[in-house]
Amino acid sequence: MFKKKSISLFSAVYIALFVMFLFLGINYFFFHISLRSILIPLGLNFIFTFIFSYYLLSLKMERTIVEKVSDIYNNLFPTTISSRATDNFDSLTSNLKKITSDKNTEIAFLKEQETYRKEFIGNISHELKTPLFTIQGYVLTLLDGGVEDKKIRTKYLTQAAKGVDRLMYVIKDLDLITKFESGIETLYRTAFDLRLTLENVFELLEIEGVRNNITLRLDKKYKEPIIVFADEERIQQVLMNLIINSLKYGTERGVTEISFEKMNDTKLLIRINDNGDGISEEHLPRLFERFYRVDKTRNRNQGGSGLGLAIVKHIIEAHHERVFVESKVGIGSEFSFSLPLANKKEREKED
Ligand SMILES: Nc1ncnc2c1ncn2[C@@H]1O[C@H](COP(=O)(O)OP(=O)(O)O)[C@@H](O)[C@H]1O
Ligand SMILES: [Mg+2]
Repeated sequence: MFKKKSISLFSAVYIALFVMFLFLGINYFFFHISLRSILIPLGLNFIFTFIFSYYLLSLKMERTIVEKVSDIYNNLFPTTISSRATDNFDSLTSNLKKITSDKNTEIAFLKEQETYRKEFIGNISHELKTPLFTIQGYVLTLLDGGVEDKKIRTKYLTQAAKGVDRLMYVIKDLDLITKFESGIETLYRTAFDLRLTLENVFELLEIEGVRNNITLRLDKKYKEPIIVFADEERIQQVLMNLIINSLKYGTERGVTEISFEKMNDTKLLIRINDNGDGISEEHLPRLFERFYRVDKTRNRNQGGSGLGLAIVKHIIEAHHERVFVESKVGIGSEFSFSLPLANKKEREKED
């Protein structure tokens, strides 16, 4: 704004000076009139020329500039701005500034997404390659004549089948995470007793035989039902992922302990405690990122898609709740998350 004013101002002064000297020159050379006798008309000449050109310039210039820039502007961003917003200089500049900063943020965001996407695809192919190579190895050995040997045949087929299983659950996890990230996964909330869900998880883990000699227990007997309002199937998955981790990264003959703590009338905190390897502090901030692993080689051999905690975070955040981790190397880890306790209305609906 200041720039535009000062340009008109200076131009008006120059024009007024020019006209004034012209007036003076004509009078002096053609009519031999002395400077002193026309001092007042000269002054008036200067003032009027100045005022006239200043207004003309500032009005005309503004209109022309605004019109020209608005044209370019409307062509560039046809939908972003209404014509009203571009009909004067001030709103035009402020709009342009806003659009520039919006565009810059957008570009930064897109660049970040692009890196994220590249990394994601790289991770996926890596994750799929490992079991595929295993399967390929067994199948090729069988084709090479291993199939004749009855003992090898069953063993290799079993190993190949394990590879296929692994492939299946990586893909299942990927599918779920994609659904959460694109926001199409919906929750089916009901009021349910978390004690029963946990019992179910304990049973499933026993069937799967992933205990590693680790004792799985509740910190105490919970006699009263613990009714939360959440998506039961998804919460079961959260418990499963966290408990499986505590078994996988636990020490031989370790203990995994689960506890429920009412924080207030509406919130429950669920903790999963283990006395396993622990995780050093530098890894904690990135732990819930997909495919993030502390010990890359070891963990991958233990199975697991590297997506378990990312899924946990997605599920809990979809419930508008939070998940926490505390850990010390050599001592153990505690993963915890909050859930809403069901209120009276939600309980009654279930009955
Ligand atoms: N209870 C735990 N104790 C020690 N390390 C853990 C524990 N839970 C998770 N981790 C670390 O966090 C990483 C990410 O876990 P997760 O997302 O479940 O992937 P995955 O188990 O498939 O490797 C694991 O690879 C492991 O290094
Ligand atoms: Mg895991």
